[in-house]
Amino acid sequence: MKEVDLVIRGAQVVSPDRIVPAAVAVAGEQIVAVGHDDTMPPAREELRADGLYLLPGAIDSHVHFRDPGYPHKETWKTGSAAAALGGVTTVFEMPNTNPATGTIEALRIKQKAAEASYVDFGIHGLLGDDTIDRLEELLEGGVTSFKAFVGNTFGNLPAPTDGALLEGFETLAPLGIRTVVHAENSSILQRRQKQMQAAGRIDAMAHLAARPAVAEIEAIGRVLTLAEWTGARVHIAHHSAADSLYLLREARARGVDVTAETCPQYLLLNTDHMRTLGGVMRLNPPIREPRHNQPLWNALMDGTLDMIATDHAPHAPEEKTRPNIWECDCGFPGVETQMPLMLTEVNRGRASLMDYVRWSAVNPAKAWGLYGTKGVIAPGAHADIAFVDMSRTGVLSQNKLQSISKISPWNGRAVQGYPVHTLLRGRFVMREGRLVQDMAGWGRSVKSVQRMPTAKPRNTEHYSSAILRTPPGVPETATPVGEIDWSRA
Ligand code: NCD
Ligand code: ZN
Repeated sequence: MKEVDLVIRGAQVVSPDRIVPAAVAVAGEQIVAVGHDDTMPPAREELRADGLYLLPGAIDSHVHFRDPGYPHKETWKTGSAAAALGGVTTVFEMPNTNPATGTIEALRIKQKAAEASYVDFGIHGLLGDDTIDRLEELLEGGVTSFKAFVGNTFGNLPAPTDGALLEGFETLAPLGIRTVVHAENSSILQRRQKQMQAAGRIDAMAHLAARPAVAEIEAIGRVLTLAEWTGARVHIAHHSAADSLYLLREARARGVDVTAETCPQYLLLNTDHMRTLGGVMRLNPPIREPRHNQPLWNALMDGTLDMIATDHAPHAPEEKTRPNIWECDCGFPGVETQMPLMLTEVNRGRASLMDYVRWSAVNPAKAWGLYGTKGVIAPGAHADIAFVDMSRTGVLSQNKLQSISKISPWNGRAVQGYPVHTLLRGRFVMREGRLVQDMAGWGRSVKSVQRMPTAKPRNTEHYSSAILRTPPGVPETATPVGEIDWSRA
């Protein structure tokens, strides 16, 4: 047998339906064999991984690496280092940078910044009123997907009008491209916030009061209506409310291709934590009342929610700790802490490792057209592996984060279960809990391996490009020339 680069022995390989003791052989960037110890080819390096679990590297559909625009908050290098430390091998990065990723020029700047990445990445382009004529150009330029900021949030990008959203979906539906939606109703949020401010409220709870769950319910419903009408694929970002889950179930039952993520903060935090955390917890959508936590877990378990993303939203500590809630930036870092937090819940018996792999890797890989190449430990797939020690305990510390944003609501939280090595396309980017410094730049765009099967659009007769031309056989003017003489009527 031909010598391979690496054989990993002694670990348990986790997939959504089983956990099996198996050795894994890696040649170049790919897994070439998974099986019994005796069947492994000779290897340049043999790694004992006794007691560890091998998970497909996590795929985080929602990170903000701030580059270009806000290097004091994060850069591609620091954000992707945080991902590598967190067992995350692929990220999808958001367009609310400066410039926003809505032009080819801005995309080129981001692609240049991403050359420093430790992990593989997709880039969500911006879907807004100003960009709907450029969606195809942006796709050709390398974006993997789009993001529509239907609710206002950090970056203050104007929400697309419903008309623009419809047209964007009409363009993207036949291409099979999925659009991430920040689903909150902007006008509700803006009016409520003004009222809170006029009433003199500056406490952390006022942020929640300004962004009630109904804003999320309304926006998800509207987006799903447009998605169903056009046949566009959509992805609901950071689903936070128990009350809107029924919309996902109903839309799926009607054949809408909708995927949805929630984040550890919506599962594990609630208003009870607000007194101690204050503005640190400010994010969009807001962290809600305790009644939302368990239904979101249940929705992950029954498949209503597909995946865990982090909404890694780094800001400087001083931007998060101002006394006036309206002056605290929204969001906090998360790409690095997601895995220990979720593995802790697995250890507590709330889910199995198989469930976790479905949420962290398999379902995101499927949603973004990467499954088979990523999201699975099997021959032919990229060798993207998170080596996990389920017995290791620790306390999360914001000062130890790789992220520049050393402020986290998870600071001081006891966890059990850590990624200890991260392999990306056959190379370690994190080993023994330490970043492999010179792997900066090993990450690359997943665009070349992305396969989004084209979809059949629903209402083709209404497509914008078609309705701009007068159909054959119909007179070019509205008045049938010479047929009605009103002067004689
Ligand atoms: C995000 C950010 O800071 O970019 N903030 C947040 O509160 N979630 C933007 C976003 O995802 O809405
Ligand atoms: Zn958002």
